[in-house]
Amino acid sequence: MLSRVTVEPASLTFEVGPDETMLAAAARSGILWPTVCKGAGACKTCYFLIRSGAQHFSPPTPREQQELMWVRRRHQDVPEDHVRLACQANVSGDVTVFCKGARAAHA
Ligand code: FES
Repeated sequence: MLSRVTVEPASLTFEVGPDETMLAAAARSGILWPTVCKGAGACKTCYFLIRSGAQHFSPPTPREQQELMWVRRRHQDVPEDHVRLACQANVSGDVTVFCKGARAAHA
């Protein structure tokens, strides 16, 4: 079953499958999502903040937790479990997220 992802502030939407990462689904949908390491889980550039639907995300792996420590320090106003990496997170329900750099490929 596909889940719908809404991305603020650009008001983008795309669908993600249960075995797909947010980053892979965004790329398949023509959305340019910030990345340097192309999904290797090493650059942290793909991070996003969860606005709604946090319960639909897979729990972060120990590696993602480690990578997120630095990002979470920059977003102390956001609950810890609302900061995730798009190249690591899977989702199984409709969600809204904030990713400042995400934009449509042909915009
Ligand atoms: S794309 Fe580099 S950490 Fe996610």
